[in-house]
Amino acid sequence: MRYIGGKSLLLDNINNVITSEIPEISSVVDLFAGSGIVSSNFKSKGYRTISNDYLYFSYVMSRASIVLNKKPAFKNLGIDDPIKYLNELTFADTNFDIDQCFIYNNYSPVGQCERMYFQPENALKIDIIRLTIKKWYTEEQITENEYFYLLSALINAVPFVSNITGVYAAYLKFWDKRTYKTLELTEPIITNNGKKNECYNLDFTELLSKKCDLLYADPPYNSREYLPNYHILETIARYDYPEIHGVTGMRNYDDQKSVFCKKGTVASAFETMIRDCKSKYILISYNNEALLSTEALSDICKRYAIGDSFKLFEFSYRRYKNKIPNDTAGLKEQLYLLRRH
Ligand SMILES: C[S@@+](CC[C@H](N)C(=O)[O-])C[C@H]1O[C@@H](n2cnc3c(N)ncnc32)[C@H](O)[C@@H]1O
Repeated sequence: MRYIGGKSLLLDNINNVITSEIPEISSVVDLFAGSGIVSSNFKSKGYRTISNDYLYFSYVMSRASIVLNKKPAFKNLGIDDPIKYLNELTFADTNFDIDQCFIYNNYSPVGQCERMYFQPENALKIDIIRLTIKKWYTEEQITENEYFYLLSALINAVPFVSNITGVYAAYLKFWDKRTYKTLELTEPIITNNGKKNECYNLDFTELLSKKCDLLYADPPYNSREYLPNYHILETIARYDYPEIHGVTGMRNYDDQKSVFCKKGTVASAFETMIRDCKSKYILISYNNEALLSTEALSDICKRYAIGDSFKLFEFSYRRYKNKIPNDTAGLKEQLYLLRRH
């Protein structure tokens, strides 16, 4: 999934710093997992991986890809291929009421609704798949692992038929050609690292006491909050019929505003994280144009680093505008490494 601040282009740099500076580590906490791409990278390198994000849809994706070491068996369900079954399901096959279909009623242009996030057929498909997964779980036809496996397949499929340019903060006023494709679930990719990996849906402060070899932290770096940009994925994941408002049908997110997105709180947020972290090492992803200056973050790191263990690595990063590489802006991706214990 395309994710704001996603680190897919930085994985080699992260891996190189770890293998050259702290090759002995065997367990990692990914405190702000987002798309889960860094956690998946750690898992594939054989580290015991503990993943966290306070957004529920992010948790759902990592709960399947990080925690599971093999595809679940679906022994109780009595359906050979649940993904194929869900792909072929129609509204007429189910007993659901149209009023239950939250995405269809609120994010596609039917009835009074003018929002154009999904073609009505796909919106309805999202609803009946989501409701079916919930029904199977409530009726104990699928296990918790199976529930998250199917739910992550749904979350991963939705962006491919969404009428957006990448985030859900706005929808397009004409139908993009991708919206005419029929929503299709694919099997989530499950790798096996032979470790007992874990996944959490907590505020970062609640995981700092976890003792691991490395805490990897990639918090937001500017004032752009994550929830408004992914509010529909959050609602599909939770399926909690939230109160919504405004042109985009936004759910309330007062309790999901990040201390890393405000100038007044970002320094103390970093200080809390670094001071209270019980892992041996900390590796922070940030950049030189972020809310907290390089000098201020370096000072905090130096204050808590054991001996002279603090190191800052910088990588010039090409910003792409209209597909024309533009690296004149001087943006540098950074990795701050320090030993804490
Ligand atoms: C820069 S993104 C992480 C991107 C991720 N490394 C990737 O490659 O996809 C920052 C993440 O921090 C999460 N976040 C922000 N504040 C948080 C908090 N207080 N506790 C937990 N997660 C938080 C956001 O939901 C977002 O997914």
